Order: sequence, then C-alpha cells, then structure tokens
Amino acid sequence: MVILEGGIGNYVNSKGRRFSYFGGNNYLGLANHPAVKNAVIQAVRKYGINFSASRRTSGTATIHLELENELSLFKGKEDTVVFASGYQGNSILLEILKDKYSIVLADQLAHASISAAIPRDVNKMFFNHSDAGHLDYLITHNKISNPLIITDGVFALTGEIAPLDKIFPVVRKHKGLLVVDDAHATGVLGKTGKGTPEHFNLTDAENIYQTETMSKAIGGYGGFISGSRELTQLIREKSTTYQASTALPPPVVAAGIASLKIIHENPGLRIHLLEQADRLREEILLLGFGTTGNGTPVIPLIMSSPERAKKLSLFLEDNRIIVPHLNYPSNREMNILRIAVTASHSDVQIKKLLVNLKKWIKENGKD
Ligand SMILES: Cc1ncc(COP(=O)(O)O)c(C=O)c1O
Repeated sequence: MVILEGGIGNYVNSKGRRFSYFGGNNYLGLANHPAVKNAVIQAVRKYGINFSASRRTSGTATIHLELENELSLFKGKEDTVVFASGYQGNSILLEILKDKYSIVLADQLAHASISAAIPRDVNKMFFNHSDAGHLDYLITHNKISNPLIITDGVFALTGEIAPLDKIFPVVRKHKGLLVVDDAHATGVLGKTGKGTPEHFNLTDAENIYQTETMSKAIGGYGGFISGSRELTQLIREKSTTYQASTALPPPVVAAGIASLKIIHENPGLRIHLLEQADRLREEILLLGFGTTGNGTPVIPLIMSSPERAKKLSLFLEDNRIIVPHLNYPSNREMNILRIAVTASHSDVQIKKLLVNLKKWIKENGKD
C-alpha cells in the first residue's frame, strides 16, 4: 500500500520517492489546486477547524448556506443539503423516502454504501448488473408495487455507466423511484457535469434522485443531495443521520465553494478529461488488456487472477507509477487494477504509463 508523504496531484511522494499517480478519484485535478488551497487557508483563518455542533443546533454557518446555494446553481435544482460524506447520502435518502416505497431493488454490483443504506426492516432484491430486462422481470414476476430502484451512475470498479436510458423506462412503467449514486459522475458526465441523468437527458425527469459527493471530481469532501425544497426540507426535518452529525468543517466547505467556481469557469476541464480518458482506454485495448466501461475516467485493467493484478501493480510501482490493485471491500483480493485518469495528467505521464504496460505484456504475456 502506498503511504503518501505529501499531497496528491499528477505525482505523489512515497517511501522517499516520486511516482506518477493514477490512483484516487481526483478527476478534475482540483484536490490540490492553488486557488482551492488558498480558500481553505482563508477559511481556517476566519472560522477555525470545526464548528463542533450539528447543523440543527448551532453549527450552521453562512458558508454552509453559500455552498448549498452554489451546489443548487450547479445542479439547476431548487435546494441542496450537504452532510458529512457521500457514503452517508444513500442512507439519508433511503431513510427519508421510506414511506414512499415497499422494497429496494439494487444493482448486483452496487457500491457498498448502497447495500449498507437499505433499512434493515425493508425487503431487498438485487437485479443482474445493469440489466433493465431482469429488473423488469423481478418487479413483474413478484407483483411488486412502489419499488425503489438504486444503482451507481458510474460503477467505481468497472468505470461502466449505468444504462439509465433502459432502466428509467422500467422504473416509470412500474411507477417507482430511481436513486442514482453519482459519486463518480458528478462534475464528469453530462453536458454541464450534472452527472449520469444529464448524460441520458433525464435531468428533469420526475422521481429520479441523485446522491453525490464532493470528494472526487469536486476537489473537497462531503456528500450532498440536490432537489426540490420539499425533499431538502424532509432531509433537514427527518434524517437522524443528518441531524445527529457535526456540521461539515469550514476548510471542507471552503474547498467545495472554490472548486465549484473553477468548474463553472472552466467547462473545458471536463471535456479534456473525457478526451484523455477515451484516448487512454483505446490505447489500452490496443495493447491487448481487458477493460470495461466507456466514456468515463475510471479505466480498469482486468487480469486473469488477483496474483497477476498484484504483480502488475508492483511492476508499475517499480517503474515509478502508481496504479492501485483493488482489494476492498472486505480485503477481498480482486483481479482488477484501476487507472483513474485526470484532466491534469500530462501527455508525458500517459505515454510513460503505456510504454510500461507494453513492456509488461512483452515480458509477462497477455491475460
Ligand atoms: C459509488 C460510490 N458511492 C459513494 C462513495 C462514498 O463517497 P465518499 O467517499 O464521499 O463518502 C463512493 C466512494 O468513495 C463511491 O464510489
């Protein structure tokens, strides 16, 4: 495991050495952006580290309201609620919508935060990965009414985009609700970076909810849900997770505000990111690696065994490149290495990665 000895950017320092970095989820390169860092420093000077109170008691500050307002403008929604983490978002939403659904149907490969969010006293089923036909079959065959369907927008491990163009018609047909965990799509997908629903022109569709995070493309931290004022009021009034957590700390709030400003002023960042990702994915396929996904900056290298995956990750590390081998959740050894490309990676870095992947194949064969 890489132990970082400095911040993350195109390069990281670890074990006293410098590595080209393709880990993490810093898609727009904002996590270490000078303007974001400066805003954080100013916020710490003004507000300190922590408001040390929940939003419901005395922990709401003007900068929370400013961040929520900026997020609402970015998302084109009436209102937004921010909270401690993206992971919490699914629990918060499934908790407050509880009297609107009778069962949860989740994608088989849904993120751990989705499985963990399904309330214990609620029935659940899993549909085959990205398979709208199977989802339709499960609902019809089991005579389900009021289903809540939940999926990642972009799958964290495979970089695939959930086919909402096929899933949403099934949701609508059965008068259900659709929740999209857009942790990896916010700021990345869609004409203006609003995420997977925008990618499929479903921004204004009724009964679609998104749970989102500022910890990936938006260079900060913390989860958020945007929507109607009725929805945000429900969260503020009913969610115990929201009410009983300490408010987002000032440096984190300031990072979110500063990042959103950069995203707003530089739409080219997202376009460049997706172009880089498309080029890299194409080259990786040409080299003969197995990969999945399309049109996202998450590019897995699928190896024939966990051992081969670990070996390739170490091979790259020996050549001063970090591409992590994934071994979570639950310490499960998987046969995937995940390349996360960012808008700020240079051509030189990408070329060096490809040269080394080619060298690996020459020395170790294809999988
Ligand atoms: C699909 C998905 N949802 C939620 C999360 C959790 O977001 P956060 O790290 O902001 O808690 C992650 C990853 O971290 C994720 O990949």
